[in-house]
Amino acid sequence: MKTTIISAALLSLALTSVQATAGGVPAEKLQKIINSSFKDPDKSTEAPATPTWASRLTPDTVQQACSEARNHPDKDLAADMEKAAAASVKYPEDGKLLGDWKNGEKIAQNGKGLRFNDKVDEPSGGNCYACHQIDKKELAFGTIGPPLTEYGKNRDFSEEAIKATYAKIYNSHTVVPCSHMPRFGTMGILTIDQIKDLTALLMDKESPVNK
Ligand code: HEC
Repeated sequence: MKTTIISAALLSLALTSVQATAGGVPAEKLQKIINSSFKDPDKSTEAPATPTWASRLTPDTVQQACSEARNHPDKDLAADMEKAAAASVKYPEDGKLLGDWKNGEKIAQNGKGLRFNDKVDEPSGGNCYACHQIDKKELAFGTIGPPLTEYGKNRDFSEEAIKATYAKIYNSHTVVPCSHMPRFGTMGILTIDQIKDLTALLMDKESPVNK
């Protein structure tokens, strides 16, 4: 517990010392351009962005540090980020990490959520296929992330791997700081139940991923 507190303090120290810049473009100019693209289409062009949209313009401290480091944090910062990411993971109260893989497949296929025309009160999807091959029968998938076929089988369906998979989906920075993969749980994109279903999709023996 003590180590977590110390590393969280170190992390926030490292992060607050970071100043916004972007590939040679003055930060202020860049921010102006970004702000102008986040106008509410129903309002006049001079109206400020709605609060929901405006919140997208402010990166959280971790994202800010990753942008600053061009996604390559140095060893010490990376270690602190991993610790902070691990501390952010909330596990299910009943301790059961495997949900329903069939539901997990639907969540992996679903690309809805956080888009400007999505309803805020509807659950988001994980859009996992946008970056990963998962069920071999699915022909449409992206390749930004590694294939996840035979994921559980390759890890002997071990308890340890189940826990690491849940944590990886909850906060991808637990394993790879500044990962390109969204931090689904920590950023409130997916719920604990949805993450359990996705963990089952990858780690359940009956899932088509492992057939
Ligand atoms: C924007 C692209 C993107 C999306 C969307 C995405 N991932 Fe990833 N994922 C990655 C990348 C890149 C990696 C490799 C780097 C890393 O481990 O963070 C990765 C790694 C992983 C790993 C670790 C793989 C290994 O071999 O250790 C798992 C598990 C995973 N993703 C699951 C998921 C699940 C489940 C979803 C949907 C909820 C998802 N990913 C959505 C980009 C993505």
